[in-house]
Order: sequence, then C-alpha cells, then structure tokens
Amino acid sequence: MTTFSHRVALLTGASSGIGRSLALALAVEQARLALVGRDVAALEAVANLARERGARAVVLAADVGIEGDATAIVDRTVAAFGRLDLLILNAGQDMWARLEEIADPSIFEQLVRINYLGPAWTTWRALPHLKASRGRIVAMSSLAGLTGVPTRTGYAATKHALHGFFDSLRVELAGSGVSVTLVCPDFVLSEIHRRALGPDGRPLGASPMREAKLMTAERCAALALAAARKRRRMVLLSARGRVGRWVRMFAPGLIDRIARRAVARGH
Ligand SMILES: NC(=O)c1ccc[n+]([C@@H]2O[C@H](COP(=O)([O-])OP(=O)(O)OC[C@H]3O[C@@H](n4cnc5c(N)ncnc54)[C@H](OP(=O)(O)O)[C@@H]3O)[C@@H](O)[C@H]2O)c1
Repeated sequence: MTTFSHRVALLTGASSGIGRSLALALAVEQARLALVGRDVAALEAVANLARERGARAVVLAADVGIEGDATAIVDRTVAAFGRLDLLILNAGQDMWARLEEIADPSIFEQLVRINYLGPAWTTWRALPHLKASRGRIVAMSSLAGLTGVPTRTGYAATKHALHGFFDSLRVELAGSGVSVTLVCPDFVLSEIHRRALGPDGRPLGASPMREAKLMTAERCAALALAAARKRRRMVLLSARGRVGRWVRMFAPGLIDRIARRAVARGH
C-alpha cells in the first residue's frame, strides 16, 4: 500500500476540521507538511501535534482567495522541502441562506475566490512540481458539487466549478503520472457550519446542524487519504450520496426532495 512517508504534502485549510484531521493522519506516516490557513495560532498548534507524531511541518499563513497568496504557498512549500508530492485543496467556506434572503451579494464573490479560484491558482502554480514527482492532487468538493442544495446556491456553484476544472485537468494530465481525485463528503462535523455565511454575509456563529448525526472529520480525512492513495477519480463519502448519484439520472425530483429534507433536518 502506498504510504505518504516522507512525501511532501501541501494542505490548505489545515487549521481546523477536515484539514486538521488530514494533517494529523499524514503526520502519523511521517509526511513533510506545509500547512496553510489564515489562523496562524491554530496552524501552529496543528504543526506541533504533527511534529509530536514524527512529521516535519511548516506553517504558511495565506488567504487562498488572494491570487498572490494562493500561488506563493507552492513556492514556499518547494523552498522548504524541495519538492511537492501531494496537493490537497481543502480550504473552504460555506453559506446558509436562501437566495431571496441574501442582503449582501458579495457572498458569491467570496465563495468563488476561496472555494474555486484558490484551488485553480494553486494548482496552476503546482503543476510542474507535481509532474516532476508524478504526484497527486486531491480537491475537497462536496455532494453539493454534484447536485443542488437549498440555502447553498453560491456554495454549490463553486463546488460544481471544481468538478469542471479538475475533470478537465485530469484529461490533460493523462499519461503524466499525476492523478486528480475529487472527494465529495456528505455533512461532516467541523467548524464550517457555524462559520457559514448567513443572509447578511456574516458567519452564522452557531451550527444549525444536528452534529451528533454527522460523520467525524477524522473519518472523512481517512476516506479522502485512502482515495488519494489509490489515485481514485472521485469518491462520494455517504451511502445516500453514492445511491443518489445514480437515482438522480432518472428521478431528479426525488433527489431534490432528499436534499431539501437533509437541510431542514440538519443531517
Ligand atoms: N464539513 C462539511 O460538512 C463538509 C461537507 C462537504 C465538503 N466540505 C468541504 O471540506 C473542506 C474543509 O471544510 P471543513 O468542514 O473542515 O471546515 P472548517 O472546519 O471550517 O475548516 C475550513 C478550513 O479552511 C480554511 N480557510 C477558509 N477560508 C480560507 C482562506 N480564505 N484562506 C485560507 N484558508 C481558508 C480555514 O482556515 P483559516 O480559518 O485558518 O483560514 C480552515 O482551516 C471545505 O472545502 C468544505 O467545503 C465540508
């Protein structure tokens, strides 16, 4: 089985949630980690835990929604470790508002910058390094990248965009040895729900989810890394996601109802 032992991983959104769990799982394998986010104190805490597990780790403060930051993290990773084997594009921001409720339409631009442009800019800069290492790209999408979800218009659009971008890139990379894996979690227990942008463009502050019912970030990270190891094209991390993908082809209205109910119930 492929391990990420001594491989160089650039991981965005490493300060909390799924990214933090990815960092700690990679640390157990003694990967060399470049941990990206805006919250430096939280990143340092993750880096210290990673080092305790035997990894080398550097903290890269960056806002992936800014082009210069999103490209510089690649240069800084290569400056620190000399190569790049695994690019995990995980940083993300959610929303929670019906379109008609939104008072601040700048939400859409913010989501596009963080969830779509950031991954595009970083991947563009990383490509020569990944080709040199025959590396792996992992993009953290969502079931909202495959189907519509109420209260998530802008978010679902950015995740759909990831599929267009990375499915196209995968075709371009055929024969290069570089793999592209799209990971589509269902709801996961993390900070994202309380941080989701509400109708006024500000974070909700409290999670509207029934958190006890959600997949843990650790489990999500383990499934994402397993997919990266096998160089899978795409993985859907819940049974309803996997079944729903096929049912949607002949009964899309049923999937709309399931999505509406999932948001209403908070799981
Ligand atoms: N949790 C779910 O239910 C779920 C479901 C499907 C898909 N996902 C996807 O999983 C990924 C990780 O989310 P999560 O659930 O782990 O959420 P989270 O706990 O809120 O973590 C989000 C991470 O993204 C980073 N981030 C956000 N904006 C950033 C920016 N502008 N620049 C740099 N880093 C930024 C945050 O770091 P800083 O605050 O330090 O900047 C944080 O480390 C996201 O792409 C999300 O869309 C989550």
